Amino acid sequence: MTALPFPFPVVTWDDQEVVLIDQTLLPERIAWRRCGNITSLCQAICELAVRGAPAIGVAAGFGLVLSWRLAMEKNNQLADILARFQKDRKQLAATRPTAVNLFWALNRLGSLAEQLVDQGKPADEIAANLLAEARTVLDEDVAMCRSLGMHGQKLLPDFATVLTHCNAGGLATGGYGTAVGVVFAAKESGKTISVIADETRPLLQGARLTAWELQNQGIEVTVICDSAAASILRLGKVDAVITGADRIAANGDAANKIGTYPLAVLANRHGVPFYVAAPGSTFDAACATGDDITIELRDPNEVHEFHGRRATPEGVGGWNPAFDVTPNDLITAIITEHGVVRPPYGESLAKVWK
Ligand code: MRU
Repeated sequence: MTALPFPFPVVTWDDQEVVLIDQTLLPERIAWRRCGNITSLCQAICELAVRGAPAIGVAAGFGLVLSWRLAMEKNNQLADILARFQKDRKQLAATRPTAVNLFWALNRLGSLAEQLVDQGKPADEIAANLLAEARTVLDEDVAMCRSLGMHGQKLLPDFATVLTHCNAGGLATGGYGTAVGVVFAAKESGKTISVIADETRPLLQGARLTAWELQNQGIEVTVICDSAAASILRLGKVDAVITGADRIAANGDAANKIGTYPLAVLANRHGVPFYVAAPGSTFDAACATGDDITIELRDPNEVHEFHGRRATPEGVGGWNPAFDVTPNDLITAIITEHGVVRPPYGESLAKVWK
């Protein structure tokens, strides 16, 4: 096992390229993917080489830096550079529809570029400003995750067992993590926490990524099939369920990896608290409820295959939504960088995430 620095650089800017740890290869191999153009970055996002709502946002931020620099090499006029930049912004926005952090970061850097163009700033000065902003998005994400981790860990008693789904750890963010960040923060506070990680079919983010990062940090982790969650909850072996989110609506409904909603139902059935941990960049006030959240439908072959090998008979159908929505009444609390927020979420979320 190779130990990495913590928080480790999931997405960085290096030598005029966006560099990311290739999550499709973990845990077998740690390799860095270099994206020197927008098409290769979009491909990395679509293939889940970089994934997890906040990490996608960070990657998109550096993607717009890349876009501006490439456009500068080909054009002298600010208007032409901006036109090419806006085209790339649309291409990045079309990669994955559910995680709002993607659009949040694209709008943040996009608006900055538009503003600086309006002010008639030189192209190289705008490039420097965009890079600074993309780095700020990354730094802020780490800070928000640390803060929500600190608030969330207070909910966990020493020796608690946490059940989580998918990967909402360092890999899914700027490096610290949301749901798994709560576990890291509990450890930093001196608590001993163990984690049960759902394997998370079809792409196994829990089995491959969450288990890998927790093991890296010396935290006890047990991987279960998604279908074993009911049994382990029924046995009373779980103190809290904590997941991340890809988009939280104004009323607190939360979209997260497919399989999160059934976990919330199960937690409710067994009297176990169900927490969602997320930073403000995951909140979408424009979505009144979860019904307004677009759910990404992925290639059914991901369901047909298991670890690269066909597991179903040729010719059968497949349905592969990447996310589901957990209704707010099943969420015990939402852990934010500003504190732990409780129902009614319409009011409490509006107070912390304006
Ligand atoms: O399809 P993925 O792997 O990008 O899905 C990721 C999740 O569902 C995470 O739980 C979510 O993005 C929160 S990450 C802090």
